Amino acid sequence: MNTDARTIVVTGANKGIGFEVARQLATLKHNVVLGARDSAKGREAVDRLEGEGLDVHFLLMDVTDEASIKQAAHQVSVQFGKLDVLINNAAVLLREDQSLSEGTAEVIHKTMRTNVFGAVQMVRHFLPLISDGGRIINTSSAGGSMTDPVGGWSPVYCVSKSSLNAITRHLAYELSSRNISVNAYCPGWVKTDMGGESAPRSVAQGADTAVWLATAEMKETGKFFRDRKIIPW
Ligand SMILES: NC(=O)c1ccc[n+]([C@@H]2O[C@H](COP(=O)([O-])OP(=O)(O)OC[C@H]3O[C@@H](n4cnc5c(N)ncnc54)[C@H](OP(=O)(O)O)[C@@H]3O)[C@@H](O)[C@H]2O)c1
Repeated sequence: MNTDARTIVVTGANKGIGFEVARQLATLKHNVVLGARDSAKGREAVDRLEGEGLDVHFLLMDVTDEASIKQAAHQVSVQFGKLDVLINNAAVLLREDQSLSEGTAEVIHKTMRTNVFGAVQMVRHFLPLISDGGRIINTSSAGGSMTDPVGGWSPVYCVSKSSLNAITRHLAYELSSRNISVNAYCPGWVKTDMGGESAPRSVAQGADTAVWLATAEMKETGKFFRDRKIIPW
């Protein structure tokens, strides 16, 4: 038994890095709440982890649907009474995301609605449950860096992650009076449905910094991490 068990919500955790974050945190015996927007996929993911002897709780939640976020926050409040860590992991990278200056505006709307507004709405609705001293972890990307050279790939997605980074800094400032840390991390280029087969990193490597941010002693807030180290915005 982990006497220091934290209650941790991970969004978009039915596959990829989110699933692995949930797995690693459940292995450490935290109360892991696995969020997914699709009930069947979410329950299948929970079954897989339970098949490995891990205990996780399923939460149906589409981060673009405010009613579903509200319902999910209510469920966590009834079931656990509080939340220690929120990990905003859900995101999309659309195939049509080739240009900011051309193409349909729907790509921009959908990407920002999920990757940016979805994370902010999660914070707004779960904040009343987050204990003083709690943590918010935003899954970002080096693609959102304002100091690395612009990569020339998926520009809308990259801008969404720059926005998430800016949000991380502002929330860190706003929530400092409650000692809630807000940090962003880049998992690196990871082999998932989003990252593709050519990615050099495993999901275990990708998940490591999120798990560390969620569980290690943490004095930092408003920072951007990769491989457990602070990196420039
Ligand atoms: N893979 C990489 O190389 C890489 C690099 C840098 C950053 N990241 C970031 O790491 C995080 C995880 O990425 P990944 O590679 O694991 O991607 P992934 O395999 O495509 O998984 C994305 C997850 O987000 C969920 N999701 C998408 N829209 C959602 C919504 N509206 N509501 C709830 N869940 C939603 C997906 O659910 P469905 O299964 O229902 O679609 C899925 O569970 C993302 O924030 C991504 O931007 C990834």
